[in-house]
Amino acid sequence: MKSNKPKVYISKPVPPEVLAYLQEHCECRMWDGQGTASRQQLLAELSEVEGLLMTGVPINEELLDRAPKLRAVSTISVGYNHFDIEAMRARGVIGTHTPYVLDDTVADLVLALMLSAARRIPELDAFVKQGRWQRGQGLTDEDFFGFDVHHRTLGLIGMGRIGDAIAQRAVHGFGMQLLYHNRSRKPEAEERFQAVYCELDELLRRSDFVVMMTPLTPETTRMIRREHFDLMKPTAFFINASRGQTVDEAALFDALQSGSIRGAGLDVFDPEPPRPDHPFFTLPNVVTLPHIGSATAATRLDMAMLAARNLVAALHGEQPPNIVPE
Ligand code: DGY
Repeated sequence: MKSNKPKVYISKPVPPEVLAYLQEHCECRMWDGQGTASRQQLLAELSEVEGLLMTGVPINEELLDRAPKLRAVSTISVGYNHFDIEAMRARGVIGTHTPYVLDDTVADLVLALMLSAARRIPELDAFVKQGRWQRGQGLTDEDFFGFDVHHRTLGLIGMGRIGDAIAQRAVHGFGMQLLYHNRSRKPEAEERFQAVYCELDELLRRSDFVVMMTPLTPETTRMIRREHFDLMKPTAFFINASRGQTVDEAALFDALQSGSIRGAGLDVFDPEPPRPDHPFFTLPNVVTLPHIGSATAATRLDMAMLAARNLVAALHGEQPPNIVPE
């Protein structure tokens, strides 16, 4: 019997409860290969599709041309820089994303990157596992020394929901002083965290830890360049858990190699994945992760379920809770 449910394509496998919810409301096909459907694999699926549950792949004119019946695209991510909002709007395609549910998980990872880079956790973990720890080496051995996180100055670039969760941990947990730079002032953050608003240059000059937490927009693309690293303290750490494109990676590499900054913690790259011989991998003072900011089982389930609810609402003529742009 012909179904009158809207046709949905799911471009990466979702947990069974999310699939069951989607199947209740939609006629679903789900990518059943490894990882996520590639762009070419996705394009081949779109001719009859009304709703798309996805992540990462650019939703642009080329894709929209292949999907004449598309009415809604729901990304399982808070970032929606892969949406061409104008092109979607021109065709009446609704876009949704998954804010709120990942804030604490990403904030935890940012603190982990700060601690890992400053206390050299991966480097010293490898040292122990390689059997290089000699009897007598320890308490007074400068080779093991790191840099304190507590009571230092954190400079947050981007003071949105995730920035707020980072501030909560850094200020109330670690006694850090907070500077922030954002497209608008945040009086409530200034009050709760004694946060001080700074222009970008001043924030870079004064911070011990600079954390990028902005969404990727035309204004934030390559926002941090060579001249910005030159302003940072030689003891400072640069942490990026937003998008790799916010930073000039070649300039970051030079700053790290020359000692003009002390270290970095990176969860994001441009492009992803980085090529296996990326120069960052030769540096001991860089902690690298494969874009896992929101990657815990509980949070990824919440994100997938929220994305599914957004999609079902949009396809059934209701207002989705998390429509973009916000
Ligand atoms: C997000 O949700 O935007 C995370 O960076 C994963 O892409």
